[in-house]
Amino acid sequence: MNCTATIPALGLPGQVMAAAQATAIIREQRKLAERTYWMRLECPDIAAQILPGQFFMLRSPDRSDPLLGRPFALLDVYRDDHGQPRGIEFGYVTVGKFTNLLSTMTAGDELEIWGPLGNGFPIVNGGHLAIVAGGIGQTPFVGVIREALWKARYGQPQREWGKRPRRLSFCYGARSQANIAGVNEWFAQSGVDVHLATDDGSVGHHGYVTQLLQKLIASDDPPTAVYCCGPEPMMHAVQKIVTQANIPAWLSLETPMACGFGACFSCVAPIVQDDGTWDYKRVCVEGPVFPADRVVFEA
Ligand SMILES: Cc1cc2nc3c(=O)[nH]c(=O)nc-3n(C[C@H](O)[C@H](O)[C@H](O)COP(=O)(O)OP(=O)(O)OC[C@H]3O[C@@H](n4cnc5c(N)ncnc54)[C@H](O)[C@@H]3O)c2cc1C
Ligand code: FES
Repeated sequence: MNCTATIPALGLPGQVMAAAQATAIIREQRKLAERTYWMRLECPDIAAQILPGQFFMLRSPDRSDPLLGRPFALLDVYRDDHGQPRGIEFGYVTVGKFTNLLSTMTAGDELEIWGPLGNGFPIVNGGHLAIVAGGIGQTPFVGVIREALWKARYGQPQREWGKRPRRLSFCYGARSQANIAGVNEWFAQSGVDVHLATDDGSVGHHGYVTQLLQKLIASDDPPTAVYCCGPEPMMHAVQKIVTQANIPAWLSLETPMACGFGACFSCVAPIVQDDGTWDYKRVCVEGPVFPADRVVFEA
């Protein structure tokens, strides 16, 4: 059964729509790399609304442990033969209770889902967009790139495409070659310039992904905008680099979350306000994507 209910819009700043709650059926699950999986979930109502950079919460309907839902970013929307949104795809890495449970589930199993949640990345508007991702932080950018290249439309009503970027660069950092998932299928084959870095040097640049961004900035075709998602120290380093280079950038924060829709305040992060002071903002409703110059990493 695929029952759908609607969570009423809370009218909170940053909350753009009412999220749907549904029981979603797992259609497919694949292991992509070390501790890294891809899953396809059937949930047409959420798939029709969700934008690249937004997220959704998942929990198991059969278990009280873990009791709380867990947030995951949209990787992509899959469609039926008539092009209608049928469900969502996401990628995850196993770190604890829920993600390890997810990795044991198979096609036909059910999950509770609520979303879409959060704001998403802004529409790409021409120029040279550099994406900087670390670890599983690459997943939000599959939809971003498909939309930027006019290969897919998202949202209800579908949001307009922006201006196609002149160039798309994808700088991706992982621990080792064994942890790299989906780079060819999702990025290189779409015509994106891929630059890899690994901590152990097993593939690509031996070192930090941020060094790849610095190299791009020093080249004769530097980025005109940067989107970033990954571990906090990496995003902090990216913030410093783009500030120095005066390049507009957006960061997608991954603070732990309990409710996902603004009620519990478990996800707050210090964010600079219009008057220059900072205050704690709920990443689940005001974010997870913030302009880089608004994020305070050392409050
Ligand atoms: C907006 C958003 C989008 C996300 N998208 C994805 C995604 O697409 N794919 C993916 O694999 N993960 C994603 N995450 C992270 C994911 O939600 C956590 O990995 C997941 O909640 C872990 O659940 P668990 O029960 O397996 O681990 P738990 O048993 O809850 O925790 C295991 C360990 O991981 C730590 N941990 C839990 N959550 C986080 C976090 N957010 N950041 C750092 N440490 C954490 C805990 O403190 C603990 O030490 C996202 C998080 C956010 C906020
Ligand atoms: S997760 Fe509950 S307020 Fe953000």
